[in-house]
Amino acid sequence: MKHAHHLKTSRLTVPVALGQRSYDIHIQEGLLHDLGECLQQTGLSGRVAIVTNPLVRRLYGGTVNASLKRNGFRPLFIEVPDGERAKTLHWASKIINQLVAQRFERSDILVALGGGVVGDIAGFAASMYVRGIPFIQVATTLVAQVDSSVGGKTGVNHRLGKNLIGAFYQPKMVLMDTHTLRTLSKRELVAGLAEVIKYGVIYDRHFFQYLEDHMEEILKLHTEPIQYLVKRCCEIKAEVVAKDERESGLRRILNYGHTVGHALESLSGYRKLIHGEAVGIGMVQEADLAHSLGLCSSAVVKRQRALVQKAGLSDQLPKMTFSEFWTAMQHDKKVVKGDIHCVVPKAIGRVSVISLVQQSVKQWFAQNQSRRHPSGAKT
Ligand SMILES: NC(=O)c1ccc[n+]([C@@H]2O[C@H](COP(=O)([O-])OP(=O)(O)OC[C@H]3O[C@@H](n4cnc5c(N)ncnc54)[C@H](O)[C@@H]3O)[C@@H](O)[C@H]2O)c1
Ligand SMILES: [Zn+2]
Repeated sequence: MKHAHHLKTSRLTVPVALGQRSYDIHIQEGLLHDLGECLQQTGLSGRVAIVTNPLVRRLYGGTVNASLKRNGFRPLFIEVPDGERAKTLHWASKIINQLVAQRFERSDILVALGGGVVGDIAGFAASMYVRGIPFIQVATTLVAQVDSSVGGKTGVNHRLGKNLIGAFYQPKMVLMDTHTLRTLSKRELVAGLAEVIKYGVIYDRHFFQYLEDHMEEILKLHTEPIQYLVKRCCEIKAEVVAKDERESGLRRILNYGHTVGHALESLSGYRKLIHGEAVGIGMVQEADLAHSLGLCSSAVVKRQRALVQKAGLSDQLPKMTFSEFWTAMQHDKKVVKGDIHCVVPKAIGRVSVISLVQQSVKQWFAQNQSRRHPSGAKT
């Protein structure tokens, strides 16, 4: 039987250059149907365990299962719960228990089928089991396709902090079927767009302009702009990671929007912002801060604000006190010896890293809040 959507688009491939650990990212509409073929083409053989969650399995487990069986693999599905609560040592060891029970060996394969949560925990389990088994990412959310499945960071959360436990462990291959984005909720899609916009600001003003020009089609999931943006984001992340795999310098620019973003996530309480939503606000606010420090023009802020809004994201700082804000920023992992490092835009497409001085952030914050809440601004 022919799969009509195989003919829709050609396959885009982005190489990730990491010496011995180099691998390819393949992007294509309908690519899920070719998982089995792709595994064979990379020369991998043996048994295949697929780590996923109940929701993603219901949507795509059948396709994956059929493709693997057609190519002579006998797939074993391993489920973790849906959502961030699966990212624990407990669930990582549950995955490992199943691999032990099935006597998986070092040449067998672990596939992550899902978003960033499944990718992070499955990659971490793959890195630990018999000191590492071949690992494949099949990314099914926009966040996973433009960010989490590329770069080799894997891990789980600790009770006292996100992503505190983990390893750098590169996959052997990453597959992105852009068709899977069609079942994603609007909210998850839009949150992912914050990270997409981020790549434009930190690295590529032409890409930023492309997003300005094509946001309507992107939101309607038109194939061509979606494939292009996934590819461009992967290229940028791959380039940054190839230059600084273990985040000793350049890779930090990927944290643009995240200093304020993480603070907002931790402060948002019951009206929970999801990560990308916090990053959307974080980018605009960090740009606004940079402008107030004389580091960029007001146009740099305006264009980001407009694009973030066009994507359907908020750009507003919620009402809070300065001490709440400052304390929340210090809980960020990137705080070294009390200094808060922050990525700031110099222009669209160019950023640098600065150390934040409490007094000047306080001044900016007071102005910012009085602009937003003219009566009764608190500091
Ligand atoms: N390793 C990294 O470099 C890196 C980078 C960024 C984020 N992350 C991590 O990624 C996680 C966030 O990833 P995420 O945003 O993909 O969240 P997620 O994995 O929780 O997925 C979001 C939701 O979408 C569902 N889903 C997945 N694919 C779907 C599809 N095709 N259709 C419908 N629903 C689908 C999931 O079941 C889940 O409910 C966080 O834990 C974060 O720490 C890691
Ligand atoms: Zn992020």
